[in-house]
Amino acid sequence: MLSYLHSFHAGNHADVLKHLTLMAVLQKLNLKSKPYFYLDTHAGAGVYDLNSKEAQLNAEAKTGVLQLTTPKANANFTSANEDVKGLLFQNYIDLVNEYAHLGQYPGSPIVASSLLRNDDKGFAAELHTAVFESLQQHCRRKGVKAQHRDGFEMLNAVLPPTPKRGAVLIDPPYESKNEYQLVVDSLSRATKRWPIGIYMIWYPLLSGTRIDRQTGEVVNNPKAHLAKEMLEQLTQLPVKSVLNIEFCAHAPSDRVGMYGSGMCILNPPWQLENDLAEILEQLTATLVSDNNKLSTIEWLKAE
Ligand SMILES: C[S@@+](CC[C@H](N)C(=O)[O-])C[C@H]1O[C@@H](n2cnc3c(N)ncnc32)[C@H](O)[C@@H]1O
Repeated sequence: MLSYLHSFHAGNHADVLKHLTLMAVLQKLNLKSKPYFYLDTHAGAGVYDLNSKEAQLNAEAKTGVLQLTTPKANANFTSANEDVKGLLFQNYIDLVNEYAHLGQYPGSPIVASSLLRNDDKGFAAELHTAVFESLQQHCRRKGVKAQHRDGFEMLNAVLPPTPKRGAVLIDPPYESKNEYQLVVDSLSRATKRWPIGIYMIWYPLLSGTRIDRQTGEVVNNPKAHLAKEMLEQLTQLPVKSVLNIEFCAHAPSDRVGMYGSGMCILNPPWQLENDLAEILEQLTATLVSDNNKLSTIEWLKAE
C-alpha cells in the first residue's frame, strides 16, 4: 500500500539539497561527450502544484526553495556566477523560475531532463498509479522515459546498462522501516553488476524524539537511527569511494521531525566535493533557521 505523497513536501529543504546534488553530478557527466545512462528509481509526479491543498498544508516550499528565489538570494547567486562557482545555483534557480511562474516546482525527473542530452538514456520508475500518470504526462518530450514499475526491481533488471557510464538516483519515501534495508540490499546487488556506476541515495535525518499528536507526550522516534545504520552498510559495498553530504536546516528537536537530510554518493565523479561545498555554503546562508553548525561533507570511503 503506497500512502506517501511527495506533493506535501515538494520544494522543501530536502528537495533543494537533493536536486542541487543531482544537477552537480549530471553536470560532471556532461563534461564528456560520450552518452550516459540515468535512472531515477523513485521518480514521483514530475511536477508539483505549490498551490495544491497538499503543498499548502505545511507550506514546506516557503522555508525551502522559495527562500532561494527571493530577489536578495538571486542577487547573491548572480554575483557568485561571475567566477563560475555560482553556475550550478544559477542553473537550478533558472529551472525553478521556469516553473515558479505557474506556481509549480519541478521534481527530480524534470531536473535531470534539464541536463540530459539527446544521446543520453534517461529512465524514471514510479509505482503509485495516479502519481505515475502525472509523471508520464510531464516526461513527454523531456528525454526521460517514465515506467510504471517498482524502482528496486527495475534497477536490478537493467544493470549493467547501455551506455556503460551513468548515474542512479534512489529516493524512497522511507515510510516503512524496511525501506532502509531494501536500499542496502538493492545496492548490494547493483554494485556487483555495475561497480562503476554513480549511485546517489537520499535519506532523511530524523529527530530522536517527537511529540505524539494524540497524547501530546514526547515519545521516541523508532526510525531515527536507521539512516546511520544504512550509511554504515553502504560504506561496506564494493565501490571505490563514498562521499556524503548532510544539510541540517534545523537542530534536532521534539518539534521538528525531519531536521535535515543527506545524499550519499557511491563512486562520486572527480571533484564533486567542491560542488557539494558550494551547495552547503549557499544553503547554510539561506535556509538554516537557527544558526546550527551540524551540516557536513565527509568521505566515508576514500580511494
Ligand atoms: C520521495 S518521493 C520521490 C520524489 C522525487 N524523486 C523528486 O525528487 O521529485 C518517492 C516516490 O516513490 C514512490 N514509490 C514508493 N515505493 C516505490 C517503489 N518500490 N518503486 C517506485 N516508486 C516507488 C512513491 O509513490 C513516491 O512518489
